[in-house]
Amino acid sequence: MNPFEEKGVKIADTFKDWSRIQPKPYCKQEVDPYTKTRIILMNGTEFEQVWFGHQFSRSCPSQDLRKELALIRRSEQQQQKVIGALKPPDETILEHTVSYEQLAVDLTAELAQREPDLHVKMALDFALLEDFDHLYRYSDLLEMEMGAKAEQLVGHYTEIMPGRPTIAEHRYPYDNLRRWIDSKTASPITKLNVEIITAAEQQTMNYYMNVASLYESDLGRSLYQEIGLIEEQHVTQYGGLLDTNMTMLEKLLCHEYTECYLYYSCFEDEKDERIKAIWEEHFIQEVGHLHLAADLLKQYDKKEWQQVIPDGNFPQLLKLRENKQYVRDVLANTVKLTSKGDNYVEAATLPQNDDFFQFQEKVNANVEAVPSHQVIAQYIEKNGMDYRFEESPNPVPELQDRKVDNTTVGREML
Ligand SMILES: [Fe+2]
Ligand SMILES: [Fe+2]
Ligand SMILES: [Fe+2]
Ligand SMILES: [Fe+2]
Repeated sequence: MNPFEEKGVKIADTFKDWSRIQPKPYCKQEVDPYTKTRIILMNGTEFEQVWFGHQFSRSCPSQDLRKELALIRRSEQQQQKVIGALKPPDETILEHTVSYEQLAVDLTAELAQREPDLHVKMALDFALLEDFDHLYRYSDLLEMEMGAKAEQLVGHYTEIMPGRPTIAEHRYPYDNLRRWIDSKTASPITKLNVEIITAAEQQTMNYYMNVASLYESDLGRSLYQEIGLIEEQHVTQYGGLLDTNMTMLEKLLCHEYTECYLYYSCFEDEKDERIKAIWEEHFIQEVGHLHLAADLLKQYDKKEWQQVIPDGNFPQLLKLRENKQYVRDVLANTVKLTSKGDNYVEAATLPQNDDFFQFQEKVNANVEAVPSHQVIAQYIEKNGMDYRFEESPNPVPELQDRKVDNTTVGREML
């Protein structure tokens, strides 16, 4: 499939009246877990595109170009409204959060396994273990405060157990940044991976920024605050991988191409016929956006789209599915890593005066007051052991004990 060769619709023909902007939500008891995660992924993709459009417009000196950006943005917003309406009102903030972290785990694992650039693959594996741990912390909060089992929400496709403990994930900001890829030499799949995961993690960051203060309990509110700061680190990491040397119009073209790729992947992957039709409709709209972006690139940058995307054919499509064994392997081999500049090292190998330990001392001086630890400690106090969904013991021996929350893995000094 090459979206440059497809016929899209004119953007002006995509405007909808109110009856078509509010589809019926899915039924939370019946929906496939990966349909939920696709909806979150595409919501995040549209958000990224809308905000990119606003930032572009605010630094663009051509009023004519700004008009075209406003036209595209209206269409992207309309798509976001349709996707956003699919979440039902009876799905709680925390239930929805479990799907966010399931997406973070299974999307990241999928992208890491197909990633040819070792530098990018390491970044994916690194953050994978952190979101995997978030899933566990939120799941215990869910069981403790609402009596609901997250394993049902994730359809038993994703295990729920400690990853790199959240307490160990707090790093000095310099160390969250990665070196950017060169889009002239990077493979098409690498460029797609980096764009996709940046938008997905940014969506999670934004969601927690908005819902932390809407959550009912103090314990839950503080957990959102803490994990929200890790999502900021993840967005710093992945956003740091994006090529900084592209023009805004080149970036616009790549964004539209990524949207085409994702909607086509969702369309191929989706089993719910009603939602599949939405992915298809949006794909056709995105082809229209892509053609306009290519026209604008030609008009203002004097470049052909082939100079930015030499081969328009989609590489392998994205599938969301279970990755239990892959996650276990990454956990067993890299749980103790932290990031240092552009590299990853075991925290225990760092000198005692390293930024990592100084930062840890600032934010986690009183371990008992760290929200991600408190959630599990309180759960254990109430129930004797934590809540998990694991098919066999955790591959990291220190994380197997269900009666104690480990707060040292990944942050201990030698
Ligand atoms: Fe879009
Ligand atoms: Fe997360
Ligand atoms: Fe994350
Ligand atoms: Fe678009």
